[in-house]
Amino acid sequence: MNLRNTICLLFLILSFNLKAQTQSFNGPSWLAPKHKLQTSEEAVKFVSELMDKMTLKEKIGQLNLPSIGFDVTGPILSEGVEAKIDSGWVGGVFNTYTPNAVRKLQEKAVKNTRLGIPLLLGYDVIHGHRTIFPIPLGLSSTWNTELIQHTARVAAKESTADGLNWTFSPMVDISRDPRWGRVSECAGEDPYLGSMVAQAMVDGYQGGDLTNARNLMACVKHFALYGAPDGGRDYNTVDMSRYKMENDYLPPYRAAVQSGVGSIMTAFNDVNGVPSTCNTFLLKELLRKKWSFDGMVVTDYTAIEELIDHGLGTEKEVAHKAIRAGAEMDMVGESYLKYLEALVRENSELENDINTACRNILLAKYRLGLFDDPYRGLNNQWQEEILSKEHRSAAKQAAEESFVLLKNKNKVLPLKQDLKIAFIGPQIKRKRDLIGNWSGAGDWKKAVSIWEAGSAIKNKRYALGCNLIDREFIREQLNQHDGQIPEHQDPKTLIDDALKVARTADVLVVALGEAFGMSGEAASMTQISLPEEQINLLRSLRQLNIPIVTVLMNGRPLVLNEVLELSDAVLECWFPGTEGGNAIISTLLGKNNPSGKITMTFPRNEGQIPIYYNHRKTGRPFEQDQKYTTKYLDQPNEPQFPFGYGLSYADFQYGKPKIQLKNDTLYLEFKVENSSKVSGKETVQVYFSDEIASMTRPVKQLIRFEKRMILAESSERFNFSIPVKDFGYYDENGVWKWEAGSYRIHVGPNSENTQMIAFECK
Ligand code: NOJ
Repeated sequence: MNLRNTICLLFLILSFNLKAQTQSFNGPSWLAPKHKLQTSEEAVKFVSELMDKMTLKEKIGQLNLPSIGFDVTGPILSEGVEAKIDSGWVGGVFNTYTPNAVRKLQEKAVKNTRLGIPLLLGYDVIHGHRTIFPIPLGLSSTWNTELIQHTARVAAKESTADGLNWTFSPMVDISRDPRWGRVSECAGEDPYLGSMVAQAMVDGYQGGDLTNARNLMACVKHFALYGAPDGGRDYNTVDMSRYKMENDYLPPYRAAVQSGVGSIMTAFNDVNGVPSTCNTFLLKELLRKKWSFDGMVVTDYTAIEELIDHGLGTEKEVAHKAIRAGAEMDMVGESYLKYLEALVRENSELENDINTACRNILLAKYRLGLFDDPYRGLNNQWQEEILSKEHRSAAKQAAEESFVLLKNKNKVLPLKQDLKIAFIGPQIKRKRDLIGNWSGAGDWKKAVSIWEAGSAIKNKRYALGCNLIDREFIREQLNQHDGQIPEHQDPKTLIDDALKVARTADVLVVALGEAFGMSGEAASMTQISLPEEQINLLRSLRQLNIPIVTVLMNGRPLVLNEVLELSDAVLECWFPGTEGGNAIISTLLGKNNPSGKITMTFPRNEGQIPIYYNHRKTGRPFEQDQKYTTKYLDQPNEPQFPFGYGLSYADFQYGKPKIQLKNDTLYLEFKVENSSKVSGKETVQVYFSDEIASMTRPVKQLIRFEKRMILAESSERFNFSIPVKDFGYYDENGVWKWEAGSYRIHVGPNSENTQMIAFECK
């Protein structure tokens, strides 16, 4: 048999296996295996032969991941990394990029160590590498999984051009708490949408074949439940029932595994009393046994060492616990380097755990083709692709599709170009926040501000209007960590100047929001409204009776009540990336019709948190005139904006949904009409509810969606086929269960405004 036939046969066997696994998979169809992480016989043989030659110390060296280069995300810095590489005590490094800098490190590993084992070269490529896309919360608001996959593809191209082979992304933690700063890095509150985004990202980075030098190994994080800390405070405790985690929080991690993700990162938090980094239930029971994960496990930054502060013992003891539980690569802490040899002397069984960890790390290197070409991407051969025209145009499209139009009274938007426009606010000219947090290798100076993008608008004027942040202690904290918050100026003078400028205009575009450091890691907040000075600016401008269009840049859902009252239109733009300014101007002027929809509920106030659409039914559902029903005395239960909400310049009308049940599949069909004179994209959302079940089920949960262009004055027909087994759930033991009975389908433009249709499943 020639090579081609052998490859075809191999492919057939693999796809047959995948099909067989998909069919026998006990879970919803959307979580079935999609791509398998390849572990060929050659790889296993190569790695075991290599390991036969390795000393215990060399194996432990492979488990060490220090940081060298640019960024720091913890209290400790790696030291003496180059010397450790020379000694064979390093399996990978992160935070160094550009081919020349990376080559220097890789050469050390390949040329100076006894076995010449190449390094993994990691970096936090989170929402783009050099060309920065909207923050992940913004990307998820596009509901366009093809586009999201493309953003990861572009990021893979740019970062492999920069010599990297591993990214610590996607972050797929579900969160129902906008106080938690890291919601900016995730895809929102919904497990189904989160899973679709997770798969799109993994596919985009890994491109189906890790040996290809333009593909990156992805790392799904933070396993597990990092998005549910008590009080929304970063790194805090997580306590959750198996029932809740299986249905609401775990699906996106599993979706990434089913897409063949090459690595997974443990989380900082504990889960039900056991820190994730030494949690045998998570790392062994779920990940390895139930989910058959075949990639490698890396810890988060110094997470093993932090087990000491979790109160689990001395550094030696926690190193023991972590390796036993299946935490394989130690990021920055070096507890393994310090203690594993001694621990093996005391307990020889530990050598098996070290061997497994080392094997999985070496297999990852094999899959990446590093043993064939350790210098992949290190010849500066793809550098011209960085920030190319194509990449920038993808960034503009992603930004445009991520914007969510929250309000548009009297259709004040889009603006006519011949109007006299006053651009006011701290986000009009500022560039740093455009690329947001976790923009690693992104250079904010390459970003286009709103003001620069509007250069073609003839009749325009500008005023700063107010400071970005009024509270000094927050400014100080942010500036300690490169927040780049400018000097505070006199608020009264700023408002007076703004009023002067505004009086001469037909419309005011007011750009407000957070500084990038106000969301992201270690940036939890108890109050999530705009800074008082920004609201004051709006209050003053409102007196003039000139229409106000508020443009928001922020990394989390905000409490917006007064902003909404004071503005005629509100456009939520998140931290939109390198092309943010261009995308905002094109949207304000109607060249782009906004089509984003929020993927996290916007609360009316912080007291409603946690607030999310797919909450379970209570025994005393809300009734206005009944005292003893579930409600607050001072606020409605409903959020300010529900999950899935977002307006368009077009007007969409949903037809009546029709369903048919055939061969255990539900066929759903409905029409959406665009009765306006502008074309626009609409994301139709399909939810279901289980009316009678053995356990309390959510009032509604997303089961399908589709985003499509609907041309002006025309309509589109949407069809979905949903296997009825998808209407099941994981029970309290994590077993997928499907029950015959009454169900409902809910169809609409968001999670609140839906049409319902009931049916029976036998
Ligand atoms: C800590 C963060 O939690 C994690 O997301 C990131 O990948 C690592 N630092 C490495 O920078």
